Amino acid sequence: MESVLFSSLLLVAAYPRSGSLQHEWMQSPPMPSRASMPFLVRLSPEVEAVPPGGSVWLNCSHSCPLPVRSSLRTQLRQGKTLNGSGWVSYQLLDVRAWNSKVRCVVTCAGETREATARITAYKRPRSVIMEPPVLVGHKYTLRCYVIHVFPVGFLVVSLRKGGQVVYFESLERFTGSDLANVTLTYVIRAGPNDLWQPLTCHARLNLDGLVVRSSSAPVMFTMIALNPASKALASASIVALVGILLAVGAVYVRKYQAVQTQL
Ligand SMILES: *[C@@H]1O[C@H](CO)[C@@H](O)[C@H](O)[C@H]1NC(C)=O
Ligand SMILES: *[C@@H]1O[C@H](CO)[C@@H](O)[C@H](O)[C@H]1NC(C)=O
Ligand SMILES: *[C@@H]1O[C@H](CO)[C@@H](O)[C@H](O)[C@H]1NC(C)=O
Repeated sequence: MESVLFSSLLLVAAYPRSGSLQHEWMQSPPMPSRASMPFLVRLSPEVEAVPPGGSVWLNCSHSCPLPVRSSLRTQLRQGKTLNGSGWVSYQLLDVRAWNSKVRCVVTCAGETREATARITAYKRPRSVIMEPPVLVGHKYTLRCYVIHVFPVGFLVVSLRKGGQVVYFESLERFTGSDLANVTLTYVIRAGPNDLWQPLTCHARLNLDGLVVRSSSAPVMFTMIALNPASKALASASIVALVGILLAVGAVYVRKYQAVQTQL
């Protein structure tokens, strides 16, 4: 039987912490070799992850002994700068694009060099919660909540019964740049054979090589299922997918019309 899909968008509010996480999954690009370069430019950190809406400082330093012209090229919103001899530190604000490239361009004695950094924004779900199944008529409604996750467009939510995937949904079509709550609702028929099978919900963020997984605690079908009506379905564990409701609540952190880079 074909699945029926509905979706709706809710707007809600939450407050992500600012701060930063360092990833291990990327290697630094090799530094230019000293022999061929009159001066070096370095942008650090080269890779930084922040929660959506967070901010970050990047330090652009160089080895030019002369006064230089230096600038930061990015579509992220720039905040304060600090400088010292041989370096400028730039603050970037309200990072929402999940993946942004930043370039620091330095001109020393007429020669221009640059260094790049990558800023990513993601938020592991604060929690993944599977509600106990609710029996309505002959069918169970399964509901899974993925709380405070970003970016939703890279999220796959799956439901498993006894370890087997019974349904999964990729949320690619949700391109919002805000923290979100996702609710996946799935309706199935279950028979007595299903009663001992744990149900779990799994959230997977697949961020271009970085995979972040979270899953719910298991829940069981309730014994109420053993009523005469559901005995009629005893032969098949999952007969039909009756309907799915997927709701994504975008969480507006702060309202900036910041331009996002999507690389
Ligand atoms: C997201 O879910 C959490 C937990 O249920 C709730 O406290 C919060 O208010 C929700 N946020 C939004 C924006 O719906
Ligand atoms: C920026 O980097 C330079 C060179 O590594 C260092 O001396 C300076 O203290 C750094 N500035 C900040 C604000 O971290
Ligand atoms: C910091 O920047 C200001 C303004 O561009 C400049 O006048 C000053 O010399 C810089 N300080 C250092 C230590 O380079």
